[in-house]
Amino acid sequence: MKILITQGHIVDPSQGIDGIGDIYIEGGKIKEIRTRSGGRKAKSKERKAGAEDPGFQTIDARGLTVFPGFVDMHVHLREPGFEYKETIRTGTLAAIKGGFTTVCCMPNTNPVNDHASVTEFIMRKAAQEGYCAVLPIGAITKGQKGRELAEIGTMKHEGCIAFSDDGQPVMNSLMMRRALEYSKAFNVPVISHCEDLTLSEGGVMNEGLISVTRGLRGIPAEAEMIMVFRDILLAELTGGKLHIAHVSTEGSVDLVRYAKKRGIQVTAETCPHYFSLTEKAVETYDANAKVNPPLRTERDIEAVKRGLQDGTIEVIATDHAPHHADEKLREFDQAPSGISGLETALGLSLRLVEEKVLTLPQLIEKMTLNPSKILGVKKGTLKRGSDADIVIVDREKEYKVSPEQFASKGKNTPFAGWELKGLPVFTVSRGKLHEW
Ligand code: DOR
Ligand code: ZN
Repeated sequence: MKILITQGHIVDPSQGIDGIGDIYIEGGKIKEIRTRSGGRKAKSKERKAGAEDPGFQTIDARGLTVFPGFVDMHVHLREPGFEYKETIRTGTLAAIKGGFTTVCCMPNTNPVNDHASVTEFIMRKAAQEGYCAVLPIGAITKGQKGRELAEIGTMKHEGCIAFSDDGQPVMNSLMMRRALEYSKAFNVPVISHCEDLTLSEGGVMNEGLISVTRGLRGIPAEAEMIMVFRDILLAELTGGKLHIAHVSTEGSVDLVRYAKKRGIQVTAETCPHYFSLTEKAVETYDANAKVNPPLRTERDIEAVKRGLQDGTIEVIATDHAPHHADEKLREFDQAPSGISGLETALGLSLRLVEEKVLTLPQLIEKMTLNPSKILGVKKGTLKRGSDADIVIVDREKEYKVSPEQFASKGKNTPFAGWELKGLPVFTVSRGKLHEW
């Protein structure tokens, strides 16, 4: 299929592009990209060819914005083992609907992705049924139990692009040290779920006034910060490549900023819910707002935004964590943590541009180029020769979040009914065009 996208506002931080231009796609690759400032009027030859060729499609992107397909380095696709929550098929469909064309799936499946055979299964399923690129993240420890290192080398060979015990921290510091040593040897990032379980045990929300008045066990910010600091120290000790998952607290932002100043190799991500909602969202015992780490305070939101603004936090990931409605209907204490995030991430993140926390190119960089760089993958760019992964967005489109319309099986969102602005109208995933 040949596709010509004309006169869209192209934003591609990997090439410093922020202007009107055209993109020509052929054979699943970007053949040509031209911006108006580049001089020549683009694509008259392709335009003519298109008139006769039925395999040729032209998209008039006037008034629309064209980005590299987003790269989400933190999703839970739930397959194998929890297909009632999500599958590779439904999760990747949710991804492309949300504008993501590459997703990295966490290993807390059943069986855990702690062995090359599980990695191979995921890669095969994704090739057969996936709507976008799926890059698996292998477990750091066997069964994510924290006792024995998984076979990082063979999993990397099979296709894992990073390692994490996400959902669980690696409590044993020696184990984390070894993981970071491996990460250095194999040049892959270790993604750390920072939570001191001895402090968070039994906790279901942020620790503070609201947890006390609601009679819910709290998780202090320190449970996250202690582990962020430990891992920063271990990254310095080992020279390993550390990436901090889902940063939720002011203290964690400060610690990552400090580490970067010292020249330690550390990167960090946050998720839309950590800059959009506070712990107040769980006041009504709404389990759809139950997430781990928990939603924090206004002050933490401000700190996370500052971290995004000054580059301390270079990635926005969703931590897409779909659960079944029946599970979320359990009483708050018993409900599983997680938010279905792929289909609200863009609308929530564009608010940062409205609020002037980030410029549009800065936001897009955190959703495309930065995660690709951290993972060492050739994604998140519209450079000539790259995979044709593109999202075309109507930034003016206002809509109400309705979970029933999610492609994801996970309808668990605390943003139901929110009015957001900015929706994908087309997604091109590896050269295949999807219209929404
Ligand atoms: O809220 C969360 N849900 N946090 C995690 O760390 C794991 C995730 C899940 O797997 O549901
Ligand atoms: Zn996660």
